Amino acid sequence: MSRDIDALTSYTLKHLRDRWWTTRWTQWVSSHLRCDPGERLVHVGCGNGEIDVALALATPGLQVVSLDVVGDRARHTRELATDVDARVMAVVGDLRSLPIRAGSADAVLCIGVLQHLADPAAAAATLGALVRPGGRVLVVEPDHEARYWFSASAAGQQAFALARETLGRAHRAAAPDAPARLGVHVVSWLREAGLEPLAVEALPVSESRLGAPPPGVWEARATRLTAAMPDQPADRDHLLHALNAYRADADAQGAGFVEVQHALLIATLAQRPQMRW
Ligand SMILES: C[S@@+](CC[C@H](N)C(=O)[O-])C[C@H]1O[C@@H](n2cnc3c(N)ncnc32)[C@H](O)[C@@H]1O
Repeated sequence: MSRDIDALTSYTLKHLRDRWWTTRWTQWVSSHLRCDPGERLVHVGCGNGEIDVALALATPGLQVVSLDVVGDRARHTRELATDVDARVMAVVGDLRSLPIRAGSADAVLCIGVLQHLADPAAAAATLGALVRPGGRVLVVEPDHEARYWFSASAAGQQAFALARETLGRAHRAAAPDAPARLGVHVVSWLREAGLEPLAVEALPVSESRLGAPPPGVWEARATRLTAAMPDQPADRDHLLHALNAYRADADAQGAGFVEVQHALLIATLAQRPQMRW
């Protein structure tokens, strides 16, 4: 898994989307979902479609149905699949009102989507209802409390603490009923939806830097922060100020600068029980 987490610019792991998928992950997901050729895998919140294409190519004959609420992402997924002739059908749709019939999927995959929603329990139930009896659901979500950071710069430590507090407050205001430890609640939500949990796995994501980051890193951080706080100009300016102080301190430390970050995703695998006659 390539590493792309940054508690300075996001309380959640929403921004992991584009960068963390590797062949090892494709194998891990395929072996857990156990899809056969001819079956239908629905990926809810497909993002840029990399995963979808990798999964379709890994199991020839598998039909991947990819859905995202953002039209550009569904379109990107469709184009990516067309380029390599992968069996992927990409549609625009919202997990909260799915345009796909309940019970019509042989397997369901959903990564990092519940963290976007105000009622993740209801969304988990919808995912559970999508799969046929005997079919599997794999949900991967972060535990927002499991964040670690270290910066060799005192201004860096302050910037991390301020970002955590400010971004966390904004996140909680947007979804007051969603638990911070999101990923570990998925088991109980899927059980309540009638599924049988099969496995839970913690997936660590880490990133470390040695040496002062180049200007592009700081510019990208400032851009992300600005985008994350469109309606809170005072908080945003405060954070940008802390970020500038951190940058100056890191530059002064030069080659001796160190920054370490760590986060945790929780994967939950569950199965809809077979029907008994
Ligand atoms: C963190 S990204 C993960 C993307 C992909 N699953 C991956 O792991 O690379 C979350 C995706 O969910 C989509 N999304 C957010 N809310 C959604 C909703 N209500 N219904 C469907 N997709 C949603 C976002 O547009 C985004 O592409």
